[in-house]
Parts: sequence; C-alpha cells; structure tokens
Amino acid sequence: MAQQDENILKKVVSHAKEYGFVFPSSEIYDGLGAVYDYGQNGVELKNNIKEYWWRFMTQLHSNIVGIDAAIFMHPTTWKASGHVDAFNDPMIDNRDSKKRYRADVLVEDAIARIEDKIEKEVEKAAKRFGESFNREMFLTTNPRVLEYQSKISETNVRLQHAMNANDMAAMKQLVLDLEITDPVSGTRNWTDVRQFNLMFSTDMGSIAEDANKIYLRPETAQGIFVNFLNVQKTGRMKIPFGIAQIGKAFRNEIVARQFIFRMREFEQMEMQFFVKPGEELKWYEYWKEKRMRWHHALGFGPENYRFHDHLNLAHYANAACDIQFNFPMGFKELEGIHSRTDFDLKSHEKYSGKKIQYFDPEDNQSYIPYVIETSIGLDRMFLATLSNAYREEKLEDGSERVVLSIPPALAPQKVAILPLVKKDGLPEKAEKIMDDLKYDFRCFYEDKDAIGKRYRRMDAIGTPFCVTVDHQTLTDDTVTLRYRDTMKQDRLKIAELRSSLKEACSLTSLLKRL
Ligand code: GAP
Repeated sequence: MAQQDENILKKVVSHAKEYGFVFPSSEIYDGLGAVYDYGQNGVELKNNIKEYWWRFMTQLHSNIVGIDAAIFMHPTTWKASGHVDAFNDPMIDNRDSKKRYRADVLVEDAIARIEDKIEKEVEKAAKRFGESFNREMFLTTNPRVLEYQSKISETNVRLQHAMNANDMAAMKQLVLDLEITDPVSGTRNWTDVRQFNLMFSTDMGSIAEDANKIYLRPETAQGIFVNFLNVQKTGRMKIPFGIAQIGKAFRNEIVARQFIFRMREFEQMEMQFFVKPGEELKWYEYWKEKRMRWHHALGFGPENYRFHDHLNLAHYANAACDIQFNFPMGFKELEGIHSRTDFDLKSHEKYSGKKIQYFDPEDNQSYIPYVIETSIGLDRMFLATLSNAYREEKLEDGSERVVLSIPPALAPQKVAILPLVKKDGLPEKAEKIMDDLKYDFRCFYEDKDAIGKRYRRMDAIGTPFCVTVDHQTLTDDTVTLRYRDTMKQDRLKIAELRSSLKEACSLTSLLKRL
C-alpha cells in the first residue's frame, strides 16, 4: 500500500469516528478486535445502502423475493454446506514478529508483486517505443515478462494444489520458495502452516453436550437454501427466480486489519438465483452485468471497479468472479458472483433426507435447480462509499474543508435547515419548514454558531443540501439552497423545496437511473 493511500485510510477511520459514523466496539474497554459499532450517521448511511440494494434486487425484479432467516441454524446445515470440514484458512506465524498471517494471502500478495513487476516492464517499454509500442506483442515475447508469467502460473498451480489437497506442508514450502519475508520483522522465520476453522460456535440449551454445539452463521446464503422449498411453494415461484436476504454473518478471521474491510461480525447482502441446469452460465453473465450496473449508478467512477475472475474455483463452482473496488488499500474484493451449480441444494437433500426439487411444468420434469449467487458485504460497501466520498479541499479564500461527497440518495442527512441567526423569528420559520419536510426527508436543524461553521459541519457528514432561512425569508417566503459539492447557492421559494430535494435525494431517482 502506498504511503499516501495508507494515510487516506487512516484519515477515513478517524473522520468516521469523529463524525459519528463508526466506533470501535466497546471502546471504553479498549475495543474488540475487528468488531465495530455504527454511530448515528453511520447507521443512516448503512440503512440507505441496504435499501438501495433491497429495492433494486426485490422491487425492480418481480421474480426475486426476500426473506429474513435466523442466525442460528440446525448444526447439520454446516456439515451439509461443507463449512464444518472445509471453512478453514491456512495460518502461519512469524516467530520473530509474533504476527499471524494467512499463508494463502502471503502467496497471493507475492503473486501481485510479480504482476507489478510485469506492469513496470510494460511501462518502461511503452516509454522506450512510444507510439509504435504493442502491449500484446510485448507481453507474449519479452523474455523477462515471460519468465515472470511462468513463475505466476507455476505458483498458482502449486497454491491450488495445496488448498485443494489440504496439504499444509506444500503451502509452507511455497512460502519458503517464494522467499516471502514478514513485512514487520523482515525475516523468514516461519512456523508450520495450520488449518484454522473460521466458524464461531456456542452451546444451545442448558446442558453442555457436544450435540448442542451450534454455530453463528458464517454466511447468510444457507438460510436461503434451507428455505428454498418454503418460498418456492408458498410464493408459487417459477424458475428462474431469486431469494434475497440481508443479515449478519460471523467469521473468526485470522487477520483482521483494515478497519471494516475484514471484520469478525459483519453484514452480507446475498441473493441466490435458481435456474434450470444448463442455463447457469447465461444467468451468471446476466448477474455480472446487473450488479456492475448497480455499482456504476452511484457515480464512484467506472475506473474504480474491475472484475477479477477466480482461477482457483471451489469444487462446487463452475464460474466465479469478484467485483473489486479501488479501496485506499488498492483493488480488493467488494462483491462475489458465483455459479454454485446444484451443490448446496443437493447436499441439503442428502443430509436432510428430504426431496428438494422443482417441478418444471414446461418440461414436465423435476430437477434440483442450479444457483447463481451475488454476495456483497454491506460493511465493505460502506467503506467503499466513505473512502470514495472523502475529500480535503483548499478553498479560494485559503481555508480548508473536509467534505464527504456521498451520493445524495445515500447521505445520512438529506437537508440541514439553518436559521441565519437565532432571533427575529428566524428559528420559528425554520422549524416550520423542518416540520413540513421531515416526513419526506431526514432533516437536521441547527441554530448554534456562525453559518459558515455550520456549513462545514454539514459538509463533514455529507449533507447534500443546506437551507438557510434569513430575514428576506420572512417577507417573501424564499430561502437559499446551498449545494454541498459546489458550495453554490440558489434562492428559491419554500414551496419549491420539496420537489427539488426529491429529484436530487430520493432513492427512486437513483433507481430510475439504472
Ligand atoms: N455466500 C458466499 C460468501 O459468503 P464470500 O466471498 O466469503 O462469499 C461474500 O463473502 C462477501 O462478503 C465478500 O465479497 C465481502 O464483501 C463480504 N465479506 C466476507 N468476509 C468478510 C469479513 N470478514 N468482513 C467484512 N466483509 C466480509
């Protein structure tokens, strides 16, 4: 991570705390690793992101319905899903720094460094050859680049083998062969690699027997799979159809750094789309395009997203990719899109002994549907929104401001109602406006401090509009409307406020842009 970007992440973290977006959990006891609380502004932003996702997925797709399944599930669920046996991460410690890492992540980082080297070679050659430079030809003929590429391919094959065969000795050898050093101690004094199951467990009932061991769900998806028949039958759903869910998930992450990017308690927004076997790859492409469109509509810049295809496919998947976002730490996974075949439903059928199939009236046959999954971390989406919105600006008068340019439809507060002074009947007039608008928009009222100071506070929490009530308001029922991003002001009639704000701030307007 570049020094400057690391600084941006630090600034976002401290801004999030200072302005009531995100606090470390139980901070008075020095916090709890990788667990966070959302404050008064954070919860509004989070709810707005949820609503944007929920309405897009369920309201704009008549063949998708939602559910809200329990966090606790029958323990056999996790045997059937494969999580009890295989939801592991390979962990490794450095004996000198005493730091713990995921061995596969160390290897992937090493691959990324080789990829960077290739890019540097490309940049150098592009400069040298100028207009006549042919990137494709260079990548397929330059001896040094070919050597790097062959190293990447060999490493990928070895990584895939070690993960699939659960061969932790091979994983350690890979770390050693790649000469990976601990970024903290700078040494290669590594322990053996051990598998670590990421599920949290607890006991249900009053008698602590093994049979009562249950898990906190590590993904919301299984709540959808076990309810497939319930929803299909009661909703008379016809394939293709989807089931969406938003809810908490829990993972005992080995390395939990980077703020809310990797948490031990987090929230997922997942949708399982059930299709006819053989049609899954068509629907996989469909959902890749749809989900990317959902992201792009927010205006964070298309250059900040990219697809990353999975080379090491899980045994049950026949296609998978991530939508990566350009976080302050670089491009990282924001959302996963997976073609999961019929693995989950088939496995639940086997473990439960219940037939989980769909009768297709068109084909007059029953089958276990295939599944395309879209899965996005709400907290990661929150971080993407916050880090993209954070700006430090130098103004014409030499002063500085920090502004969160959050898309208005997601902003925690839509409009601040500010009487210019706290006298002459201006607060009363402002309160009247607030009373009128508060049913449609989250409004914020403030009459303390100079108006400039109040504008700055609203900029810092990303409020897209400030309505200022001044003496002229009392005579002609007009106010000034100040725009957060440009700081420009318009004078308009109080009666026109609602329609202007609605057009700019409503989720409906945002959804219509999709
Ligand atoms: N049901 C599929 C599934 O859970 P995943 O790739 O493990 O797939 C999906 O997780 C999404 O959940 C990720 O793309 C990420 O946004 C989010 N996520 C996963 N682990 C997380 C964590 N520890 N903290 C925050 N978000 C996480």
